[in-house]
Amino acid sequence: MKKLSKNLQEIIELLNDCNFHDGTSLGEKLNITRAGIWKLIRKLQDYGVGFEAIKGKGYRLTKPLILLNKNIIKKQIKTKLSIETFATISSTMDYFKENHDHKNIKICLAELQTTGRGRFNRKWHSPFAQNLTFSIGYPFAKDISQLAGLSTVVGISICQSLKNYQLPKALKLKWPNDIIYDEKKLAGVLIEIEAETNGWCNAIIGIGLNANLQHCSKQTISQPWTSLKTITGKYIDRNLLCINIIKYLLANLEKFSKQGLTPFMSIWKNYDYLYGKKVTLQNFNKKLTGIAQGINKSGHLLLRQRNEKIIECSSGETSISKTLQK
Ligand code: BTN
Repeated sequence: MKKLSKNLQEIIELLNDCNFHDGTSLGEKLNITRAGIWKLIRKLQDYGVGFEAIKGKGYRLTKPLILLNKNIIKKQIKTKLSIETFATISSTMDYFKENHDHKNIKICLAELQTTGRGRFNRKWHSPFAQNLTFSIGYPFAKDISQLAGLSTVVGISICQSLKNYQLPKALKLKWPNDIIYDEKKLAGVLIEIEAETNGWCNAIIGIGLNANLQHCSKQTISQPWTSLKTITGKYIDRNLLCINIIKYLLANLEKFSKQGLTPFMSIWKNYDYLYGKKVTLQNFNKKLTGIAQGINKSGHLLLRQRNEKIIECSSGETSISKTLQK
């Protein structure tokens, strides 16, 4: 777990104009030696930040790098909460293992996760300072069984928060927690819940959203993916993106806390990627196939089987299937 050093923040701010800066002038501005500047550049290169270096001219960032700034984010959020930002962390989900808080809302943002994870313990890849990777610790005065629809609410919040970007095609939600654009994954949600003895539950909601990601090998991300930058062609200010998501999320989580999934049922229908499709649900060693019929008030996926029986599925991974089982 590392905070971004003041020197690193300052050098990024100086380089952010994407013009060439030589070691001597950077050193003077930061009041450190040229060797110190070289060390900072190396550190950024280790994080995967792209530089162009020309002898006599210095270093130039190949693309802008606006860092996450918790003060900018906090200023725009009215709800009382605490925000922590890290340069690197194992996973923003792990932050909450050591920072339990059963009463307050906490947010942990990271520029880079060394072991970011997705559902079913898959890796979640996101290069330094390109996307959004963060988790929210949110306490609920509810039993764990009442939180089954939580991922639905989080997915809806992300889609609603992206309305400002006026994406040419519709965003879709693939139950339980993938945000899909044009058949490609734009964002994923990971929810871990700690049940307390006093009837409270603490939900750790992890969100990974591809903001400025543009190149990535097939070995690193195996499924088809997209990013807001790829879709809009514009560099995404992640602080604004984050503020927007948090605003929608907090409003919807409060509503969910008080009213459950009822107010979200009709909204879900607009985003339901699976509705009417032949779906295979893989859950541990069980495989079920049916026609997706939306969700029920508990957030469970409804699958209509060949015998017209509707089954309710509480968890699992869904994929579009070509054949229907008997
Ligand atoms: C998935 O699609 O499988 C869920 C991906 C969730 C990724 C986010 S990134 C922030 C948080 N920290 C993690 O390690 N994972 C979640």
